[in-house]
Parts: sequence; C-alpha cells; structure tokens
Amino acid sequence: MALDAARYVAGLPKAELHMHIEGSIEPELMFELAARNGVPLRWKTVEEVRQAYRFHNLQSFLDLYYDGCRVLVTERDFHDVTRAYLRRAHADRVRHAEMFIGPQGHTRRGVALETVLEGVLAAMDAAEREDGITSGLLLGAQRHLPEEDALAMLEAAEPWRDRILGYGLGGAEVGNPPSKFARFFAACRERGFRVTAHAGEEGPASYVRESVELLQVDRIDHGNSCLDDPALVAELAARGTPLTVCPLSNLRLRVVEDMTRHPLATMLRAGLNATVNSDDPSYFGGYVNDNYLACHEALGLDIDDLTLLARNSIRASFLPAERQAALLADIDAWRAAAEAP
Ligand code: HPA
Ligand code: ZN
Repeated sequence: MALDAARYVAGLPKAELHMHIEGSIEPELMFELAARNGVPLRWKTVEEVRQAYRFHNLQSFLDLYYDGCRVLVTERDFHDVTRAYLRRAHADRVRHAEMFIGPQGHTRRGVALETVLEGVLAAMDAAEREDGITSGLLLGAQRHLPEEDALAMLEAAEPWRDRILGYGLGGAEVGNPPSKFARFFAACRERGFRVTAHAGEEGPASYVRESVELLQVDRIDHGNSCLDDPALVAELAARGTPLTVCPLSNLRLRVVEDMTRHPLATMLRAGLNATVNSDDPSYFGGYVNDNYLACHEALGLDIDDLTLLARNSIRASFLPAERQAALLADIDAWRAAAEAP
C-alpha cells in the first residue's frame, strides 16, 4: 500500500517539545499587535515581513526575532500569541506541547514577568479547556547574557514555580558554552525543575557533551553536531537522551545546505532518540507537520520512521507515565488504522 504521508502525518498524534512562543507570531498577528500597542514596524505589508525572513545564520535570525518581540506588551498579547500557536498545533494533532518563552527579552524592555507569565498561562488553560491540548512551560535563559541574569530570572519566577515545567538555554551559541551556565543549571535541578539546553546547532559536539555531562540536561535542543563525535553518539544513544531536532529551522538558518543533507535519518539509524519540532514556525516557514513531511520527502522517511518520531516525542516529553501510555496507544491505533484494508 502506498503511503499517503500528508494524511498519515496530519492524523498522527504527537507532542511538540521545541518551539519558542515568540517565534510563532505570524506576520498578520504582528501587525495587529503593533497597531494595538502603537509600536512602529519597519515593514508595511505582511508580504514585506515574509520577504525579510531570509537568514544566513542564527544571529541574523535572532536580530529580527528580538525586534519582533517588541509588539508583545500586555498580558492579552502574550495570551493571544500563545493561544494562536496552541490552536495551530491542535490542528496538526499535537496532543501536548512543551513551549519556551524567554522572559529576559521582555523584562529588559520593561514588561513585567507577571504580564508575560499570566498571559501565557491563561492561554494554556484555555487551550486545554477548549481543545483538550495540554502544554507545559519552559523558561529559556539567553546565553549571551551573564549567568547572574539567568539566576535572577529563576529567583523572580519562584511565585509561579508550580506552573513552570523547567528551564532551557538559547540564543547565540558560539562563544557561549554550556559551562558558562553550570551554576544556573545546578540551581534549576536542585529546585526540582526539568532542564534542556540548545546545543550543537551552530556550536561544536563538545557543547553537546558539556550539556549532558556538566549541565545534566534532560534533553538536548537540536544536537546536530553530536554526529561529529562517534563516542558521543554512542553515549547519547546508550543514555537515550532525547534530541529535539528542528529540520526546517536548520534549513532556514543554514545549519544544513539542503533538506536532502539533513542528519535526521542518520540520527535514527544511529539509535539516537530524535524528535521533530518547529522551533520558530512563523519565521521558518512551517509548523510541526510541515517538518515531518519535509523529512519524509527529502530523506525518504517511511511510515515506521514517522511513527517512531511521534512515539519518541511522547516518550521524551515530561508528561507522567500514564498519559504517555495513553498517547502511545493512540499512535498505535492510528498506525493500525492506516494499515487496515
Ligand atoms: N536557537 C537558539 N536560540 C533560539 C532559537 C534557535 O533556533 N530560536 C529562538 N531562540
Ligand atoms: Zn530553539
């Protein structure tokens, strides 16, 4: 039976574990929020914005991304962008999302942490109530800033500790090694939070190793460059460390030259616990299902691979075991239905 990949992926239950709420502001919403808040934009039309989303590396993207954050001012803004993403994810049959927000990019502009968190959390509650999609919140520290700033964010977010799943590390990777944040990650773990770090996107394999061995992360965000170090690949495979891979992000930030050279298939063959995610979907031209399909088309991933990626996403989530088991059963049911005559 020929696989109708688009149909199979569309109905495949899955989790998304690596996306940035600020990176999901579609240009239409950006204009709406800019008008609402009287924030001037450098573009006049939605088309102009999309034209501007051509990047040559991570930094060229981060410059635009931080600039786009200026339209987020009120609690309602943070609610609206989060609710829009969760609605779109629900349409991709994402059953559970673990989302990053970067408070430092907002508090530095004079937006209160309370404004950010209350808006996001209200949207997460609404999405669960209205669509049944569950979600968790990860606070991302910016690695180009001093470790003290990350520690101050951890302290400031304590009043919301019961609503925060964990902490991550993002931003300009090269020159800001994981070791710079050893105390911050130890403090997060000591307080019982889950921890992840972006590593091996533009940085070397040694950054991935440091994240695992020194920061003791629960997941690696990206992880591509681990393939340069066979001993590290063996270690990650043995530990089962999840990698939250973002194929279209890698393409748009020129981490890979073209999709046929994306390392996802190699990762799966090496026994790595890889998952597929959208990272910053409005900037990189695709939501999670677009990422699954791009890999199917360019790398020849078959129904077994696509199913494995969805199963990995559930098992790599921070959901309790019972809910994981229920979602895995849903995946198996979808797979069985696809193969029924
Ligand atoms: N890499 C690093 N930091 C980020 C990214 C990314 O892809 N997206 C948003 N912040
Ligand atoms: Zn990311």
